[in-house]
Amino acid sequence: MRHLIQTTDLDNSEVLNILDLAKGFKTSHSESLKNKRFITIFFENSTRTLSSFEIAIKNLKGDVIRLDIASSSTSKGETIADTAANLDAMNPHAIIVRHKSAGATNFLKDYVKCPIVNGGDGAHAHPTQALLDLFTIQNHFGGIDKLRGKKIAIVGDIKNSRVANSDMELLTRFGMDITLVAPPHFLTNTNFKYSYNLEDVIDKVDVLMSLRTQTERHNLQTYGSLKDYAHRFCITKDLVGDRDIILLHPGPVHRNIDIDDEMLEDKRCKVLEQVENGVLVRMAVMQFLCA
Ligand code: CP
Repeated sequence: MRHLIQTTDLDNSEVLNILDLAKGFKTSHSESLKNKRFITIFFENSTRTLSSFEIAIKNLKGDVIRLDIASSSTSKGETIADTAANLDAMNPHAIIVRHKSAGATNFLKDYVKCPIVNGGDGAHAHPTQALLDLFTIQNHFGGIDKLRGKKIAIVGDIKNSRVANSDMELLTRFGMDITLVAPPHFLTNTNFKYSYNLEDVIDKVDVLMSLRTQTERHNLQTYGSLKDYAHRFCITKDLVGDRDIILLHPGPVHRNIDIDDEMLEDKRCKVLEQVENGVLVRMAVMQFLCA
C-alpha cells in the first residue's frame, strides 16, 4: 500500500509512469477503479482539486463519497484522526484529504489501513498539483527530456505556498532552473536563486508560475495592500509583451492582482489547460496507487 503525501514519495520512474498514464487517458478509457470506493475529506475549501479527484475516480468507474465537513461530526469535537479512522472502518480503497494544517495528511497515515492521498496540507505540499504542472510544462516543450535547463520564475507568496514547495522539489528533479520572485516578506531562507523584481527576470525565463497571495495564512499583514503588491508582481500583458513565455497559475487566481485580465485571455496562459490536465493526472495517480 502506498500513500501520496508529498512529491518525494515518488521516484523519477514513478513520476514518469504517472505522466505516461495521464497522457494515455487523453485517448483511451479505463475501468480500473470499478467496484472500488473512495472518500474525499476536504477540511479546507477547494474548487479544482476536489472536483478533479472526484471526476478522475468516476472516469475510471470508481465510486466516490464526499464527507460534507459542515454536516460532519467534526463540529461535535471529533478529532481528524477519529474522523479518518471511522471512515477507514468502512473499507474505502483510498481517502483523499485536504487540511489547512501542514503535516495533517502525514499524521493521518497512522490511523488508516488504506492509502491517504494529499489534496493539499497547509503550506506544506500539494503533490498532484506539482504533477499536473510538470505534465503541462512538458506537454508544451514536447517531452520531459526537453525540460533540462528551462528557466522558470515562481512569483508571489512563496513562503505560504504548498504549490511552490511541491513544484520546487519536482521541477528541479527534472532539470528546470528555478528563480523565486517575491517581496522579502513572501520569501523564506532559500538555496534557490531569488529576486525582488519581476522586471529583472522577465528576459531570462521560459515559464512564469504565478501564485495567489495566501491571505488566510498570514497571521500578520506585513505589506501595505494587495494593490501595492499587484503594482510590482502582477503578471500583465505589458510586462510579458511578445516574449516566448508560458504562464501558469494553480488557481484560484486573484484577477488583476496575480495576473491581469488581458494575460488571462492570452493563448500563452495555461491556467485552464492545467485544470484540464489535473483530471488526467489525478486519474493516473489514482490508478497508480489503487488499481
Ligand atoms: N490549485 C488548487 O489547489 O485549487 P483548489 O484550491 O481550488 O483546489
